[in-house]
Amino acid sequence: MDNMNNSLPERDGFASKFGIIAAAAGSAIGLGNIWKFPYITGIYGGAAFIIVYLACIAIIGTPVMLSEFTIGRRAQKNAIGSFKKLSPNTPWFITGWMGFLAAFSILSFYGVVAGWTLDYIVKAATNSFAGADADAIAGMFGGLISQTWTPIFWQVVFMALTAGVVLGGIKKGIEKYAKILMPLLLVIIIILDIRAVTLKGAMEGLSFLFKPDFSELTGVSVLEALGQAFFSLSLGMGAIITYGSYVNKHDNLSNTAGEVTIADTLIAILAGIAIFPAVFALGIDHDQGPGLVFVTLPEVFQAMPGGFIFSVLFFTLLVVAAITSSISLLEVVVAYFVEEQKMIRRDATIIATALISIFGMICSLSLSSSVKIEFFGKNFFDWLEFVSSNILLPLGGLCIALFVGWKLGKQKVLKELSNEYTINAPFYHVFIFLVKYIAPIAIAIVFLNGIGVLKYILMIFK
Ligand code: PHE
Repeated sequence: MDNMNNSLPERDGFASKFGIIAAAAGSAIGLGNIWKFPYITGIYGGAAFIIVYLACIAIIGTPVMLSEFTIGRRAQKNAIGSFKKLSPNTPWFITGWMGFLAAFSILSFYGVVAGWTLDYIVKAATNSFAGADADAIAGMFGGLISQTWTPIFWQVVFMALTAGVVLGGIKKGIEKYAKILMPLLLVIIIILDIRAVTLKGAMEGLSFLFKPDFSELTGVSVLEALGQAFFSLSLGMGAIITYGSYVNKHDNLSNTAGEVTIADTLIAILAGIAIFPAVFALGIDHDQGPGLVFVTLPEVFQAMPGGFIFSVLFFTLLVVAAITSSISLLEVVVAYFVEEQKMIRRDATIIATALISIFGMICSLSLSSSVKIEFFGKNFFDWLEFVSSNILLPLGGLCIALFVGWKLGKQKVLKELSNEYTINAPFYHVFIFLVKYIAPIAIAIVFLNGIGVLKYILMIFK
């Protein structure tokens, strides 16, 4: 394959506008939208939480996404190489390294959760939920994750699928599959939405999602919304920098960032519409936390007319969403190996997949009943999740916003947004203001909260 040949001068990249949107939206839309967004919305009070989430997306998410696209396309390099190229001989490249580390850690545990969803497709397709009561279904989930080999088997299968796509390169791998999988995802979620809203009693679930009760809102839920905005948009760790480096020079970056953000947000809301009306209609608790998708939903499906087919579709949806995200995580690591370590794509993909899979296995084992890997009361899985989501992403996002706002230089930013002054960049000034001041301050608050320092700072001001 020509794009595996490292000696070719031509750098692989996206071939079409739709390919860029599909791939970047594919990165953003993932387990974060369909698994995490609904369950935290359930916990933090529904509509009011969603409004805060939307504000975070608009004020912080979109500018940081545009910053990442700008850095990547300007530099035409992987996450680490981009900072080295745009700001040589400065410590800014550490931002790229944090992204590399975050991609590595997130994919380790992401692959494990995605593996569970593969197992759940089989469970759904073999009608395993039929007739099972709530306890039995909860037992199935606990049973799966506490086993030693089954979750590892599925994790490895999932990682192999991811690697298979990344091996093909950008046009013939990432773009090609994103263009098939993203429309498929949209079709499945719309079918599930129609099923959910036509259930008797669906209204209660819809008003939970769309009628805000601001009395439910707390400082914690605001910060949670901001953190979720980051994770869901794939920000703060170089995935969008890497994809940005494959965007051609004629594409309008501001529009792309806007469209990807809208797509990601829409799918999160559509996932909520697929889940809550059904959960409320069947009288099941809506605030069950991370088990919402693996425990509550199978309960919902087995009580719902046509539940068998909808459960198969739902878990397929999760796998499709997960794989287009994990592809972007793996690409962060592979692009670094190829460009900075001069490996050929095939070797880079195999080595990256193997290393990440080994970490993933340790994650999976840390949940199993046979092996307990705990440090300071947290297992390895929770550690990786904690360090990546609460430390690396906010810190990375902060550095990225600061880099574009203060370091890169206004002219370079304007050049990138206006394609060398050939198109209008009407939001340029707003963008610079957000990225210079608003985003960094807001992100700093999330970060300080994430590491548990904010409460002490607030105490000083009391
Ligand atoms: N955005 C993905 C999701 O919502 C997760 C992800 C995070 C992917 C960071 C790439 C980078 O599931």
